[in-house]
Amino acid sequence: MRIDIVTVLPELLESPFSASIMQRAIDKGLVEVHFHQLRDYAANAYKQVDDYPFGGGAGMVLMAEPIDKCLTELTAQRSYDEIIYMTPDGEPLRQPLVNRLSLTENLLILCGHYKGVDQRIRDLWVTREISIGDYVLSGGELGAAVLSDAIVRLLPGVLGDETSALTDTFQDNLLAPPVYTRPRVFKGMEVPPVLTSGHAAKIDAWREQQAFDRTRERRPDLLDEA
Ligand code: ADE
Repeated sequence: MRIDIVTVLPELLESPFSASIMQRAIDKGLVEVHFHQLRDYAANAYKQVDDYPFGGGAGMVLMAEPIDKCLTELTAQRSYDEIIYMTPDGEPLRQPLVNRLSLTENLLILCGHYKGVDQRIRDLWVTREISIGDYVLSGGELGAAVLSDAIVRLLPGVLGDETSALTDTFQDNLLAPPVYTRPRVFKGMEVPPVLTSGHAAKIDAWREQQAFDRTRERRPDLLDEA
């Protein structure tokens, strides 16, 4: 898979892509990630990429021309499965959408900033608009990092244990059950005995029940959907 990210702040993206699972996926050649500095496509010497909104009001808008130039250049080199714009008024990001995007080959992610991008870019280029939650971030970069991380960990070969992504919270509309590791007794609190029983079927049944109880208590909305 290849992910291209268009941004005015590539430095905001560097650390999420240089550690842990994401870095390992890149090192193994399972994903390629490229950042494109929007200012490199600015027309004037000041590298201006934003301007005041028509009609007035607070905040700046990312201009259509540099984005258009950048996207024209990128799409001439390869065809993208999706051109995604990160925005709080987009489709809420949930696991089924992550699963679908993990099956694609080439993704282009456009990060907004300030008040967002000129609407004509959204009309002309964008195939999907995604929000990572009902709150406003100062730009799309953290959203792009969240989206990329959620996708990349699903790529075959990225996680050590191939099955572990399937048992994640949300994969079956259930929250994950509690987990424990050594020591068996910590500050007088004992690990549920079933987990040390060695009885695989009983352990599975216990985990399923815990997942269900936890979901009913914390996120009953997920059970309504299932
Ligand atoms: N840009 C600003 N806020 C955002 C959000 N909630 N999701 C995605 N992109 C954003």
